[in-house]
Amino acid sequence: MGAVIIGSGKALPQLEIANDELKAVVDTNDEWIRTRTGISTRHISVGESAQELAYAASCAAMGLTGDLFPQTTSTGWCAQPIDPESIDLVLYATVSPDVVVPSCAALLKRHLNLPNAVAMDLNAACTGFIYGLTTAEAMLAASNASNGGAVRNPIKRALVVGVDRLSRLTDWDDRNTCVLFGDGAGAAVLEWDAERPGLLATYLRNDDDVKNSLTCAHAIEAPQPFTESGISAEAKADPDASLAAADEMLGIGDIVAEGGIRQVIRMDGRTIFKFASNAMADAVGEVLSRAGLALDDIDCIVPHQANERIIRFAAKKLGIPEERFQLSIADTGNTSSASVPMALADAYASGRIKPGDKVIAVAFGGGLTSGAVLFEA
Ligand code: UT7
Repeated sequence: MGAVIIGSGKALPQLEIANDELKAVVDTNDEWIRTRTGISTRHISVGESAQELAYAASCAAMGLTGDLFPQTTSTGWCAQPIDPESIDLVLYATVSPDVVVPSCAALLKRHLNLPNAVAMDLNAACTGFIYGLTTAEAMLAASNASNGGAVRNPIKRALVVGVDRLSRLTDWDDRNTCVLFGDGAGAAVLEWDAERPGLLATYLRNDDDVKNSLTCAHAIEAPQPFTESGISAEAKADPDASLAAADEMLGIGDIVAEGGIRQVIRMDGRTIFKFASNAMADAVGEVLSRAGLALDDIDCIVPHQANERIIRFAAKKLGIPEERFQLSIADTGNTSSASVPMALADAYASGRIKPGDKVIAVAFGGGLTSGAVLFEA
């Protein structure tokens, strides 16, 4: 028995920006971006909200026609159309929520018309979808186990979504980061199955990012009527002192004080590159050993699509051919929480993942998070 993936979908915004078009905002070129990252083009949502992308990806994963937001293109695979009433849990991984209350997951539950689901958001940066799958599996297993503990919500099916509009968090004057990112959404449906094994092993990890090598501050905007000595209506005009404390935590106090934008992604690319290549290989090794399997047993690895060179480096470290990895980065760029579920949808929709195949999904990101999930399709 186990949590089996029964649907997988993705959605991309309509606007597509090719590498050379980025010359309009920064000093870059197609050759540099392609050879250093494997990216040729990315999709940017201008009219579409992240919610619309998440809705379209979820409809594709559930085999629904979903015409609430018709302008978004989506593709996917599902074993058979999934009844919205049968979804008991929605987990929505993102670093770029459209709204804070209600949760984006609660909005998605409403738009998809899932009357029986409970819903919540989670943020584990680019590893969000792996954290989501792991959490959903644990809740499905706990709910369907008969080994005591608390009396829990009955959960038979879970919808796990990864969606981001990194374009909203990107400094479009910084060529070191802006050429890397794109927008999109991916989704998967997990079902508890009494016969099939589904997820065989999960592994999550969090290394402290003591050097602030990958950060994005949050610009909370509601004016505060408080000073250190109490409440005063006039204080609403003052800058929020707690923001300065948060800026210091991320090491961007001076930048913001000098007029730099607060809420953009800042990254030490080389440090993250090194962390990523090692973290991916380590996470793959960990899930294999937890499942008691060897690399030769694995048909396909679906990695976080941050940089093709990172994937190549990890393949070399693991001693396996690059062809074993699903590569989807060329026309998406790095889409953070959406990256793994979109690549998964590509692998399912193209027939690369077949029933009975053993697959590893693996990711890394800010936090510094990393993790992997090994499953039988
Ligand atoms: O989702 C998780 C987070 N992100 C990642 O996983 C990203 C991890 N890091 C990377 O993928 C790579 O480090 C980058 C793609 C960000 C950078 O590649 P790199 O090979 O490490 O390049 P670099 O930073 O060492 O820069 C090499 C040169 C520099 O010029 P100089 O100093 O050698 O003259 C840069 O200024 O390339 C220059 N450069 C560019 N040139 C043209 C940097 N960005 C660009 C650009 N276009 N967009």
